[in-house]
Amino acid sequence: MSLTESPSSLTESLVNQSIAIGQRQLPSRYFLAPLAGYTHLAFRRALRELGGLGLATTDLVHSTQLVSEHRHSMELVVSHPEDQPLSVQIFGSQVDQLVAAAHWLEDRGYRGIDINMGCPMAKVNGQGGGARLLCDASQACRLVENVVAAVSLPVTVKMRLGWDRDSISAPYLAQRFESAGIQAITIHGRTRQQGFQGEVDLDGIAATAAAVQKIPIIGNGDVRSAEDALRMREVTGCAAVAIGRGAMLDPWIFRKLADLTAGRIPREPTRDEQVDFLVRHFTLMTEQHQDRSCFLFRKFAAWYGARLGIPEDLEQRLRLFQDFAEFEGIVAEIRERHGERKSSIATALVKVPNGPVERW
Ligand SMILES: Cc1cc2nc3c(=O)[nH]c(=O)nc-3n(C[C@H](O)[C@H](O)[C@H](O)COP(=O)(O)O)c2cc1C
Repeated sequence: MSLTESPSSLTESLVNQSIAIGQRQLPSRYFLAPLAGYTHLAFRRALRELGGLGLATTDLVHSTQLVSEHRHSMELVVSHPEDQPLSVQIFGSQVDQLVAAAHWLEDRGYRGIDINMGCPMAKVNGQGGGARLLCDASQACRLVENVVAAVSLPVTVKMRLGWDRDSISAPYLAQRFESAGIQAITIHGRTRQQGFQGEVDLDGIAATAAAVQKIPIIGNGDVRSAEDALRMREVTGCAAVAIGRGAMLDPWIFRKLADLTAGRIPREPTRDEQVDFLVRHFTLMTEQHQDRSCFLFRKFAAWYGARLGIPEDLEQRLRLFQDFAEFEGIVAEIRERHGERKSSIATALVKVPNGPVERW
């Protein structure tokens, strides 16, 4: 089954916007999937201001480094009152490490914990964490049971279909996790072996959704438009959808979904709204990183360049600017020189690892 083959008629259930994860009531069924290095606080806040986002999750955070308050982990969990609803994603393979991280988060007022069982990277899998847990059901269940018992926050899991196509474990694990008290599961419809290759397997997501009794299954993978998200729900029966690269491609995707579910015709952002988003993203970044934002924003120059059709010389300046005044000057020129370069699809600019997955 593929997203494009399936029918697109809306059923009644697709029109219901809100959803509960445990005690947590979320305003929409369309969530931001974590993209480490991209979906940071400033991006999440800018996205939330556009409307329609139900839940965001931080980048994966090493459970031990979180508890020892390692500088990088502290940056990953920095939040803001407007950055809600938010879950923090932790990874690790040892029960005591994950339990300690869960306590650390609960003690500091975080509202949701997500356990990563999908990361395909060797440095995570080599220590028995991420997708490696899909190969060890008893350890995965032990982890889940202990974290759930340790905190009163809703605990969720994000996982893949299995390690490879000969060991599809998601439906079995989903059932076990539900019995252990997990409140929702996000399922990326690929195996670890697939990395980011091939088509997302909607039948695999459907089988996982069918395996649980009550908890929401959140479908994930390759959703690039509002219509794709609705189709994923319709075809797989998943209760919600997590969108990663599709939200980078089109940050207005959540607003469009809110419009569609409310029976309104979704509208494309105007050119000015798109430039405003760029400015907002940078401005929010400066709240956290001050001058360092000029350097950190470089990563997004090519993406904004393609999306907004920013003339090449201005895109290059976005990659090199040193201070806020220079940024303002570039933005003024971007607004003036609208139309000089055609905008294009920027998905390829969210980098995924290359080469055989065994070497990631
Ligand atoms: C650059 C990048 C970073 C990612 N970081 C994370 C992460 O920190 N935690 C996680 O659970 N998944 C992570 N993922 C996986 C995504 O959340 C998602 O499952 C995957 O990209 C498929 O969904 P999409 O097609 O909507 O992007 C990452 C993916 C990419 C491309």
